[in-house]
Parts: sequence; structure tokens; C-alpha cells
Amino acid sequence: MALSDYLQKKPVIDTNRLRIRPMCAADVSALREWMPDKSIYTYWGKGPGKTDRNPELLFEKEEKSSKSFHLGIEEKSSAKVIGDIWVYLIEGNRMASVAIRLSQSCQGKGYGTEALSAMTDFCFLHTELQRLWTKVDVRNIASQKMLEKCGYRQEGLIRQGKMVNTWCDYYIYGKLNSDSK
Ligand SMILES: CC(C)(COP(=O)(O)OP(=O)(O)OC[C@H]1O[C@@H](n2cnc3c(N)ncnc32)[C@H](O)[C@@H]1OP(=O)(O)O)[C@@H](O)C(=O)NCCC(=O)NCCS
Repeated sequence: MALSDYLQKKPVIDTNRLRIRPMCAADVSALREWMPDKSIYTYWGKGPGKTDRNPELLFEKEEKSSKSFHLGIEEKSSAKVIGDIWVYLIEGNRMASVAIRLSQSCQGKGYGTEALSAMTDFCFLHTELQRLWTKVDVRNIASQKMLEKCGYRQEGLIRQGKMVNTWCDYYIYGKLNSDSK
């Protein structure tokens, strides 16, 4: 299959403790437990938006075939969606941005590293994507450590640049398919 096929029919990716999968209306009660929590957004570039405060809005319209992946991260032991992950801003099927967030209570358990590593491997093994990258606030140490554990390299420092709606110092982290070989 190619990237365009997976964008139509979203993948399910299993790790030891997690299942990365499309979300559905049955997940709303689990999402309500953490999506509105302001603490998650400290280095996110913006606070919780309307959909984060009302996750049912995610499922109100039938999903059109999209140009990105937005998948839930299910904790297998609780069968709850405890975070989500994006592969978005896809350019020429060759380069895309990644983003991930986890509920406060599920941070610091290695889940971020487990999910991002599996999503990254999926993209490089099963799609044409050759470069994944992200912006990280210089103060977001957990995210920097997670990215480095997943093989992303710090490629540069942007001083007082725009991260979503916030002006801050941030790093660019990137990983190439050829880095992982
Ligand atoms: C960033 C995030 C996804 C990381 O996921 P996580 O599951 O908490 O991270 P992990 O448990 O895999 O830890 C990765 C490393 O960061 C370290 N770490 C975790 N939380 C930390 C913290 N608050 N401060 C410092 N280091 C931290 C871990 O110890 C680990 O390093 P180690 O292996 O050397 O011990 C998660 O913290 C999160 O959702 N944050 C809020 C949203 C966000 O900022 N997303 C990233 C935007 S770029």
C-alpha cells in the first residue's frame, strides 16, 4: 500500500502496551477526561481549543478523506484512548510534521516514546515519506528526550519564532528514513 491508501483507510499500529488507531464516538468519554486539561498545553503553542474542550465535535461530521493522520493512542490495559498523534502538513508525499500529546496521568511512563517510535517506523516502512519533523519549545524537555530516544535529531534553534499561536524559542527536530538504516 502507499501513503494515499493509508490516508483513505487509516492504519492500526500495535505496540506492547498501546494500540494506535482511528478514534470513534465511543471514545468521547475517555477523551473528555484529559483533552480539556490545560496542563497538557503548556508548551503546545496554544491552549485547549473548542474541539479539545468538546471532543464530541470530532465525530459530528462524517470524516472526509483527509490529508493527514490523526489517530488515538489506546492504552491496552485500560482500553481507553489516553492520547493522540498526528502526521500532518504532508508535502509531496515526502515530508510531514508529527505531533503527539498524552493525558497528564499517562505521561512519564514511556508511552510517548513507544507511540512516536511506532508511528515513525510505520511511516518509513509502509509509506513514501522520507522526512518527519517537528517544532519543540526549548523548555519542553520531555518532548526533546522522547524525540531523541526515537532517533530524531536536533537540527536547529529558531529564536522567537511562531509555534502555533505563540512566539517562543523552539528547536526543529527531524528524522530521515535513511537515518534509521
Ligand atoms: C511530550 C510527551 C508526549 C512525552 O511523552 P511521555 O510518555 O511523557 O515521555 P516518555 O515517558 O516516553 O519519556 C521520554 C523521556 O522524557 C523524560 N521525561 C518525561 N517527562 C519529563 C518531564 N516532565 N521533565 C523532564 N523529563 C521528562 C523521561 O524520563 C524520558 O527520558 P529517560 O528515558 O531519559 O528517562 C508528553 O509529555 C506530553 O504529552 N506532553 C504534553 C504535550 C506536548 O508537549 N507534546 C509535544 C509537543 S512538541
